[in-house]
Amino acid sequence: MCGIFGCVLKSGSAAPIIHSALKRLEYRGYDSVGEATVNMGKLFIKKDAGKIDEVHSLLNLDDLPGEIGIGHTRWATHGAPSRVNSHPHFSCSEPPKIAVVHNGIVENFMELKKELDDAGHVFRSKTDTEVIAHLIEENIGEKELALKTPSSSPFEKAIFNAINRLQGSFAVAVVSSYEPNKVFCARNESPLVLGVAENAFYFASDIPAFLPLTNKAVYVENGEMAILSKNAFEIKKIFDGSSVTRDLKQIDWAPEMAEKQGYPHFMIKEIYEQPRCLRDTLRLQDKYLELLTTFLDRAREVIMVACGTSYHACLAASYMFSKLSFLATHPVIASEFTGQHGKSVNIDSTILAVSQSGETADTLAAVETARQRAATILGLTNVVGSTLTRVSRVYLSQQSGPEIGVAATKTFTSQLSALSQLALRLAKKRGKISQEDIDILDEKVRRIPDIVEKIIETQKEKVKKLATKYRDKSCFFFLARGISYATALEGRLKLMEIAYMPAIAFPAGESKHGPISLIEKGFPVVFVCPPDQTRKTVIGNIMEMKARGALIVAICEENDEEIIRIADDYIEIPKGIPEILSPIPYVVPLQLFAYYMAIERGCDPDMPRNLAKSVTVK
Ligand code: AGP
Ligand code: GLU
Repeated sequence: MCGIFGCVLKSGSAAPIIHSALKRLEYRGYDSVGEATVNMGKLFIKKDAGKIDEVHSLLNLDDLPGEIGIGHTRWATHGAPSRVNSHPHFSCSEPPKIAVVHNGIVENFMELKKELDDAGHVFRSKTDTEVIAHLIEENIGEKELALKTPSSSPFEKAIFNAINRLQGSFAVAVVSSYEPNKVFCARNESPLVLGVAENAFYFASDIPAFLPLTNKAVYVENGEMAILSKNAFEIKKIFDGSSVTRDLKQIDWAPEMAEKQGYPHFMIKEIYEQPRCLRDTLRLQDKYLELLTTFLDRAREVIMVACGTSYHACLAASYMFSKLSFLATHPVIASEFTGQHGKSVNIDSTILAVSQSGETADTLAAVETARQRAATILGLTNVVGSTLTRVSRVYLSQQSGPEIGVAATKTFTSQLSALSQLALRLAKKRGKISQEDIDILDEKVRRIPDIVEKIIETQKEKVKKLATKYRDKSCFFFLARGISYATALEGRLKLMEIAYMPAIAFPAGESKHGPISLIEKGFPVVFVCPPDQTRKTVIGNIMEMKARGALIVAICEENDEEIIRIADDYIEIPKGIPEILSPIPYVVPLQLFAYYMAIERGCDPDMPRNLAKSVTVK
């Protein structure tokens, strides 16, 4: 799940452009970084393990010569993070003539490596990627595929031959001294998009990488190769070299939307962006909302598949659909879907896949299983043009703008808003609640952005102080009932992934079936307790914990004196929020808490160790 970027400039120096684009892609992985450029027919390569700034201060990534180049920021799948395993990888010849960067996994790399070993190729790294460079080299001058494009050069044919042998997922890019004026890139499953400017062509794993340079994009589809040169780009089918025409897309994201805009971290910037994103999510495309609602209405069985935070959105949505529109939905963690439902899913099943990135491998694999069994696939994603949007019968774009922080924040609350609008519309269609109730809920959905704004403004300092107080605890509990259980799970995930704080979340009713034995004096327990019908029982659970010496942190409605009295600390949420919308405002203090805990504990919230934004491997 690394980031790849490259460019062909009409004039100027490619290396600094690649360097700054890689910085924008660093959220996709930061185990190592590397660049390769071509100048006067010769390849120049720099790479090393470490974050981009560290490697740049040692090697200076900006002084590679040439107008053409490729770059990579890595999240290792095959071979530990090290200099030799860093991309670009190159072929045997000395000096190197072919350089390759890759995002994904070459599943048949063992078999290819053996074949290439036998043919005398010498491998330097432990990566799967390196086979691609040797395979291209091996194919130069070999018998060629019957490609449909007559103008293909021997090197181009060697690339087609090689890419056609790869199994697995890849977005791969190649520069070489055989074709020093071109960049070749190809995709299968991993994301790849082209940027088109007056004086340059770019390719990248995602749009924000080139957004400050151009807002004109062309999506490369699975099974396609893009060839960039100074005056043109071409897209061809990998299978037979036949030409593909594809329209340019105008991207509306302003470049500064992808920058930190003065905040110390992307995560806090994105927490602050939530009111705006929630307003944008109120402008979902009506046509697609209606279409999705129709599919859901006809569905016999709806399974929601997702991972991580998106799964928590699905869990909350299952309460929304059940309570508002009387539709039973089953949230399933995507990596478990095939084992749990792979045989039972069928033509009568409807799958609602939820993925911020639209590229999460586990979610896409679940969708693929369901697709093969003729189920109807519906999608909710933040990235239009992502794989999920292409495999869905209908999809809804949640309109959050790019999210750079590894921790999902604004995209979570936008997902919840989109899903609640869907549940409301379905309720209307099914006549399950009165028009008056629908109007009230519609109005409440519209007020949510202002409420979130108020919570951030009024509670931020208080949450910050809580982080100072609790920073040295060694474990946390998050408990809640009903829809707030999803909020508790999300608060716990944020704290674990960003502040490296062990944490446990349970439905409050389950805590006495085991987890309560952990409680001793001073153990912090966070209760999410909005004033819904679970509140009274939750108060009982708070008392059980208090009796055993736990420290209670309550997220409750403002002036809820009963809870405020028994809590050691509390955060207040404005009144008048209906139960089905409560996860949106109630999660905000938990996001802030995770952020400030990370800062207090000296962790980098934007780049938590061992994680990457988009998990594009299973
Ligand atoms: C949460 O903060 C993320 N680190 C992670 O759990 C994420 O939600 C998950 O990988 C799913 O991503 P997706 O929504 O892009 O599919
Ligand atoms: N499989 C390649 C490696 O381990 C690329 C990994 C990725 O896409 O993150 O280097």
